[in-house]
Amino acid sequence: MATYRIITYGCQMNERDSETIAGILAGRGYRKAAEGEDPDIVVLNTCCVREGAERKVLGKTQELKALKTTHPQAIIAVVGCLSQQPGVAASIMKKMPHVDIVLGTHNIERIGEALENVAALRHPVIEVLDQETVPPEGLPAVRAPGVRAWVTVMYGCDNFCSYCIVPYVRGRERSRLPGEIKAEVQRLVDEGFKEVVLLGQNVNAYGKRLGTGQDFADLLREVDSVRGLSRVRFMTSHPKDFTQKMICAVRDLPTVCEHIHLPVQSGSNSVLERMNRGYTREQYMDLASRIRQAMPDCSLTTDIIVGFPGEDERGFAETKDLVRQIGFDAAFTFLYSPRKGTRAASMPGEVPQETKKARISQIIAIQNEITQRKNRDLAGQVFEVLVEGPSERDPSVKAGRTRQNKMVHFRTSAPAGSLVSVRVTATGTWTLRGEVVGEGSPPTT
Ligand code: SAH
Ligand code: SF4
Ligand code: F3S
Repeated sequence: MATYRIITYGCQMNERDSETIAGILAGRGYRKAAEGEDPDIVVLNTCCVREGAERKVLGKTQELKALKTTHPQAIIAVVGCLSQQPGVAASIMKKMPHVDIVLGTHNIERIGEALENVAALRHPVIEVLDQETVPPEGLPAVRAPGVRAWVTVMYGCDNFCSYCIVPYVRGRERSRLPGEIKAEVQRLVDEGFKEVVLLGQNVNAYGKRLGTGQDFADLLREVDSVRGLSRVRFMTSHPKDFTQKMICAVRDLPTVCEHIHLPVQSGSNSVLERMNRGYTREQYMDLASRIRQAMPDCSLTTDIIVGFPGEDERGFAETKDLVRQIGFDAAFTFLYSPRKGTRAASMPGEVPQETKKARISQIIAIQNEITQRKNRDLAGQVFEVLVEGPSERDPSVKAGRTRQNKMVHFRTSAPAGSLVSVRVTATGTWTLRGEVVGEGSPPTT
């Protein structure tokens, strides 16, 4: 039986796309290659959001040349965001002739036909489309095992944050129909999944052009009503579109978890404006405080870019100040990386790499202290935890997450997929330890 290996870079949307690629290959009789086994087809599902991501992908593509020496019939495919960039397909074919297939983001479901064509024509197949489509419904998928499944609710992004390549490689916002999404979630529950994560680059723009009048809060209500589902999560939320209706939906819908990933990017108004983020520092702080007022136990996480063009000491100090004032549960920090074709790439005021690195370490140190302090405050409290299975680091204990998305380790005989009540007994930066004090969710006070 022929075998495949899929290597995925980038965000959860890519992880989800890779599940579809796996489904298509499985439908054509391929099975996943075992560790150490040379696969018959390797698919690299690529990311180009920062230069580092791009470099990793190109390095890996180069490295795969060795596969052709041990296994000359093997097929190498490069698909996704990096391939979608203008000129990249041609450049890959020129510099890396061992690559057989290049597909962009708008037609990954063509991987099966591309394989056939390579076999029949014995020359490379390149298909990168400018024309974006809503991918067909009902494509097969091989899901990552576990209790949680990803569900893409919308494709693309219209925001054009000035630093970001995503709108160029993923195209305009396109939403799936609520009925299709609900049916997919129902199927996942029937297959045994307990939690779904609704995915989009900006889920709060869901439904804008569908003409059904439904927004993302309405979609959450639909998904919440799927019988047998324990939890719903969603990402990513753009602060400018996060409505009061959304706050109420997260507060009121029983399965929707109290965790909002709300990328702020910067605490400086002048930087935010040049980033084209569409909100001010004050508006963001107001939103965060309205969320906390409605749901004191809601966790807030964020993304921050340091060293955006023109970010001076004062601008950076404003970001540090915002991080301290909000007290995020976690922050993902990135060094600004210029992306060809974006507006920020030609903005003046480049920040030297050394300064960027010094700034990122400061933010990380501040955030680590906050995370530790917040976790310490959790000691003694009881949380609803969804059992995921044995911990990767210590298989003698089980791992699971609270509704706020904090990882907890504890001992239990309850199988993966059960909800248990766990009292936190010890806390670190990344994981908590706890003891099970009951089945199901703790009683609400
Ligand atoms: N749609 C999501 C995710 C976009 S990519 C959102 O709007 O938040 C994930 C994160 O990568 C972004 O939030 C941003 O912090 C970071 N990022 C995007 N482009 C970047 C760039 N050119 N340089 C550095 N970080 C970048
Ligand atoms: Fe990029 Fe901004 Fe769209 Fe997020 S919202 S994908 S950062 S353009
Ligand atoms: Fe990367 Fe594409 Fe996601 S550029 S972050 S894989 S949308």
